[in-house]
Amino acid sequence: MSRLIVVSNRVSVPQAMGAAGAQGGLSVALSAALREHRGIWFGWSGKETESFTGHLDMQRNQDVTTATIDLEPQDIDEYYNGYANRTLWPLFHYRIDLTEYDRSFGEGYERVNARFADSVLPLIEPEDLVWVHDYHLLPLGAMLRDKGVTNRMGLFLHIPWPPTRLFVSLPNHEQLVESMLQYDLIGFQTEEWLDSFTHYIKKEAGLKVDADGLIQYGDRRIRACAFPIGIDYEEFVDSAWSDVAVEGCKRLKESLGHGRKMLIGVDRLDYSKGLGERFDSFGRFLTDNPEMAKDVVLLQIAPPSREDVESYQLIRHDLERKAGHINGAHADVAWVPIRYVNRGYPREELAGFYRAADIGLVTPLRDGMNLVAKEYVAAQDESDPGVLILSRFAGAAPQMPDAVLVNPHSTEEVSDAIRLALHMPLAERRRRHQALLQSVRESDVVHWREAFVRALEGPIAEIGRDAA
Ligand code: ADP
Ligand code: F6P
Repeated sequence: MSRLIVVSNRVSVPQAMGAAGAQGGLSVALSAALREHRGIWFGWSGKETESFTGHLDMQRNQDVTTATIDLEPQDIDEYYNGYANRTLWPLFHYRIDLTEYDRSFGEGYERVNARFADSVLPLIEPEDLVWVHDYHLLPLGAMLRDKGVTNRMGLFLHIPWPPTRLFVSLPNHEQLVESMLQYDLIGFQTEEWLDSFTHYIKKEAGLKVDADGLIQYGDRRIRACAFPIGIDYEEFVDSAWSDVAVEGCKRLKESLGHGRKMLIGVDRLDYSKGLGERFDSFGRFLTDNPEMAKDVVLLQIAPPSREDVESYQLIRHDLERKAGHINGAHADVAWVPIRYVNRGYPREELAGFYRAADIGLVTPLRDGMNLVAKEYVAAQDESDPGVLILSRFAGAAPQMPDAVLVNPHSTEEVSDAIRLALHMPLAERRRRHQALLQSVRESDVVHWREAFVRALEGPIAEIGRDAA
């Protein structure tokens, strides 16, 4: 079995698993994948150093070797806060209104990708497979090729790929995509994002894509494919029945008061998650259903994220205002409709909270996948499961048709869905939950990793053929 060299912006050292914090889908999934596969996980430590040295901090924990570098303040500003999270993230989530183009961001992005390439190069051995993750590192493969790396290299994008009409607003989009064509395999979360990429490749880049999905680029052939990511199903179900989870579930239910139902939302505090629209929808539900209003509580857990970026500061203020407004309008002395909590929780506790909730409210405006939807399903008690209300714009939606699918922009539709879910008979809840559970179990993170790695190491013309 080939060794894997995994490269991502963030590296989560395995011993930190289970600790409180908003780890994000990427790090949760990769920790699980690397626990079973030999290899090295390389990336940014998340720490700042006065000036970049390239020093590699190598650690070995639970059979996973991690190698991290620190970045200097200008790198963090221009690469992470800048190009990655002020330019690519909003654009790729269809938020052109929030997208900022600044030449210094692009320069910082190139510089940090070059630093990643220089630092990871000595770790790569001839037979290794190199697996690069996400929008932070799109040009890394090309930089490694320039340094003579001939290994198989794959890229997996954890976020959406935008429609061509939006993507072409990115200055230098041609060069960015050209650099991506130095990978052998490019993976997307869904067929929709894959279609958008293929559309760009044909219509803008003018390249041929054959019937098997192989992109012809000079003498190179690159396969682009959809590989929907999953959760570590076994680990999560175990977490959900741990003592900590059982205690967390009980404590939360007791705090609700007799017979009261709970809706839960768990998201990084990000404008792509549709939190403002969710609060508005819940407020609408309270107004439209006064007879049920005092019997429900929304628990929204939203740990702050990317706090140095202005759009994230604004959404935080906006949500505080909205939660305050709705609570002010509806609360009474013994009941507050929205419990809004800005912190992370250990995974086991979180799993217990999911199980305590009668409804999982997962309503992003646009999301590459959304692992919270899958975690909510895995945490339920099969004999009396809750109902998942899921945005049709989440990457998870095509895999989860038995959720109550909603348009998160429509407060009426979400309010109706809450009402429907609260009245849903047990038999229907069970039927829907069984179907969802089967999909979450079958397309878990192990399946995802194996499909991608199998595709990456297969004969080039076979790459990705039986991927997803
Ligand atoms: P994203 O990658 O955009 O953050 P996902 O839904 O795919 O979105 O993944 C989020 C991950 O972060 C999930 O595994 C979720 O459990 C975790 N997470 C989110 N909020 C918290 C929190 N408050 N405490 C602990 N983990 C959290
Ligand atoms: O899943 C998308 C993603 O951007 C990951 O790449 C990232 O690890 C996660 O969300 C959390 O974001 P950040 O690393 O910026 O805190």
